[in-house]
Amino acid sequence: MLNSVGLSILVLLSVAGATTIERVEYDYYKYHDMQEIANWMNQMAKDHPDVVTIVDYGKTYEKRTIRLLKIGLNTGEKKKGIWIDCGIHAREWIAPAFCQYFVRQILQAYKTDTDMKTMMTNMDFYVTPVLNMDGYIYSWNNDTTRLWRKNRSPGTSGCKCYGTDLNRNFDANWGTIGVSPDCCSNVYCGSSPVSEPEAQAVTYFVGSRKDDFLCFLTIHSYGQLLLVPYGHPNVTASNYNELMKVGLEAADTIKKVHGMNYTVGTSPDVLYPNSGSSRDWARMQGIPFCYTFELRDKGTFGFKLPEDQIQPTCEEAFSGAMHIITYVHSKTFSGAVATTAVTLWTLLLAVCVTSTNLM
Ligand SMILES: *[C@@H]1O[C@H](CO)[C@@H](O)[C@H](O)[C@H]1NC(C)=O
Ligand SMILES: *[C@@H]1O[C@H](CO)[C@@H](O)[C@H](O)[C@H]1NC(C)=O
Ligand SMILES: *[C@@H]1O[C@H](CO)[C@@H](O)[C@H](O)[C@H]1NC(C)=O
Ligand SMILES: [Zn+2]
Repeated sequence: MLNSVGLSILVLLSVAGATTIERVEYDYYKYHDMQEIANWMNQMAKDHPDVVTIVDYGKTYEKRTIRLLKIGLNTGEKKKGIWIDCGIHAREWIAPAFCQYFVRQILQAYKTDTDMKTMMTNMDFYVTPVLNMDGYIYSWNNDTTRLWRKNRSPGTSGCKCYGTDLNRNFDANWGTIGVSPDCCSNVYCGSSPVSEPEAQAVTYFVGSRKDDFLCFLTIHSYGQLLLVPYGHPNVTASNYNELMKVGLEAADTIKKVHGMNYTVGTSPDVLYPNSGSSRDWARMQGIPFCYTFELRDKGTFGFKLPEDQIQPTCEEAFSGAMHIITYVHSKTFSGAVATTAVTLWTLLLAVCVTSTNLM
């Protein structure tokens, strides 16, 4: 009798033990190398087959497959899209950490939060955790300063240096300001607009669905800024006022989380003028809400943000991003949230009626 109870406990314990060993929690508050992030992407698709699919949409210069997670409920209808890319600049390690955090948050939320569920019904999130994979890997393995920024394509016409600044290579006032034609420069814009395979991948994928995208968020560090189009000082977005209004509200939301100040404006107004950015290109395609997030900090640690700041940085940026996304969603689907509320109300009534009957 005693022996059999003891045995049962032992069996139970070993089952519990095995489960723990099998499912080690992914640590969202550490920096992960490319292999770990690739495995994590596969795990997300495996754990949430109802809402997550992996989409391959291009190759890097070194022939790695560029992938994104498409996240949304399968409604069988044409849906709107939200674009988020991270890691276009290799050394900005907090950006891929943010994309992973973002994915985890929305995947947790939609099961219990009706607003998130409605958003996932109306829209798909397209999240690229690391766009510049070659550069990211180089910054982990090969660069002792760890400050590599560009992609890894070799310079043309005898230039000995490597790498094009992908965020100067898009077809948006390309080559006009805030760039260098010198392939050794950190802001080398490439030999022609969209010369780089990574910029081509985004241009093709987003460009072929540009009417579906409501929002284009590209995540960088550092500086605590929300940048709106355009980087060129002589061009103004037609919806500049609305972009600023929503951006300033997002900065307020961010500040409420951990008290951090984010500054909102165009690049020339709050940072420096530039050309060829993916944000400007997306806005020129007609995608209305395009923002660059420059995450923490303001220069104390710069690109080498300590791991103990990953969590607060992601928490505040998530609220800021969700403010923009919620605004865009409500604007496009006015009435959609109301419909859900009505559905919920009907359901509650039904429950009440059932309870009454039971009494
Ligand atoms: C980067 O490091 C890896 C692993 O140590 C090595 O195989 C590769 O050749 C290096 N690449 C460059 C460009 O130095
Ligand atoms: C912007 O416009 C001004 C006035 O026309 C001109 O002088 C300046 O060169 C322009 N800037 C750029 C970067 O094209
Ligand atoms: C944020 O900015 C405000 C006004 O510019 C300033 O008073 C405050 O000290 C800043 N807070 C932080 C945390 O930098
Ligand atoms: Zn950057």
